[in-house]
Amino acid sequence: MIVALLAALLGCHAISKSTGADSVSTGTPGCGDTIYVPQSGTDTTTPVPADLDAATFGAAPDPTRVHLSWVGDPSQTMAFVWVTDAGTMASRVEVGADATYGATTPGATFTLIGGDTFGRVHEVHVCGLTPGTTYHYHVGGDGHWSADQTFTTAPAPGSTDTFRFVVAGDSRDNYAVWGQILAASDAFAPDFYIFSGDAIDIGSSLDEWGGWLDQGAGYIDRRPIMNVHGNHEFMAQPFFGLFAMPTNAGPDRTDDEQWFSFDYASGHFVFLNDTLAPYDVQATWMDADLKATTQPWKFVSHHQPAYSSCTTHGSNANLQAQWSPIEEDNGVAFDMTGHNHNYERSVPLRGGQQTDPANGTYYVVSAGAGADLYGNDMAQPFTATATVDNNWVLFEVNGDHVTMTAYDLSGNVIDSVVR
Ligand SMILES: [Fe+2]
Repeated sequence: MIVALLAALLGCHAISKSTGADSVSTGTPGCGDTIYVPQSGTDTTTPVPADLDAATFGAAPDPTRVHLSWVGDPSQTMAFVWVTDAGTMASRVEVGADATYGATTPGATFTLIGGDTFGRVHEVHVCGLTPGTTYHYHVGGDGHWSADQTFTTAPAPGSTDTFRFVVAGDSRDNYAVWGQILAASDAFAPDFYIFSGDAIDIGSSLDEWGGWLDQGAGYIDRRPIMNVHGNHEFMAQPFFGLFAMPTNAGPDRTDDEQWFSFDYASGHFVFLNDTLAPYDVQATWMDADLKATTQPWKFVSHHQPAYSSCTTHGSNANLQAQWSPIEEDNGVAFDMTGHNHNYERSVPLRGGQQTDPANGTYYVVSAGAGADLYGNDMAQPFTATATVDNNWVLFEVNGDHVTMTAYDLSGNVIDSVVR
């Protein structure tokens, strides 16, 4: 409890405590927060801080599987994760306006269960960045840096600047389709990615996670990706270790990186875990979170659809009862899930009934990133459209409206809606 409260007090959300990209700190990870050795999602033992950056290099110290995400405010922070051989401890990020960088932030490093051949994971949080700004960066340590790459911080929260994000889910163990989606969506210049769960088939398989991350090279190392916990992630350690995401600072650390929210320009994004985690606790948290935001566009992402005509899984009645009313009453525009391997969008719903778009929530299922496809019986009155095909979804948001477009792998538009 004490450790969790301390972690909460020191969390990356406290931007004012940031060591900042403008300074070189000495051994403390960015944002002033402690990075812990990841546990499984059900492990309640006292967390252990990860090892700090050190100038130690093993047999294969060059960074691989570099990817970005957010632990703090997307307009001022960036989190970096990568993998090296198990002997390399160097865990630094250099950031700047050009490839001369100029600011160094050290982070922390740890290994995962069964990770002797997978290697060592490195995590760095950089804070104190300027909103709406493109930075150059590389990760690693002296003599063993990754190639120069760039990222762009979010506009300040509340900005009406247009932004885009991609939603896809359920690659399971067919990563080639996931790679095709990243390549196809690249032309639309999304600002970030949401993966709606079941990235892998077996949550504890580091080989599978490696295959999934490898498809992201050139994409998720220049745009952040935020991952939903799906049933195939199974609360296993790699999900928590390979992705740096916000901690919700609950009474213990079991809810870390499972349910949280962040703002991006005019959007407010809520992530939930609908597998092996309590619905009632998250319902209470989400209601308070949504009531506290003044952002005009609210999005919720989790794994299992509340409303679906999928032949295999169908709807989740517990989510309809416990989460949907909160989302609809608090003006959530789109609920974005995976799990049911096809594409489906509902009519705008309130209490299970079709309503005016301004008063209801669209339930969107995008679960076509590689897993074997499921059928749709199309017999449900809440279904606006459903397509049994691999798919991904592009959202474009500005101050006035949201345009959602679903694509198949050939680039054909399979659905579009403007709210
Ligand atoms: Fe699933």
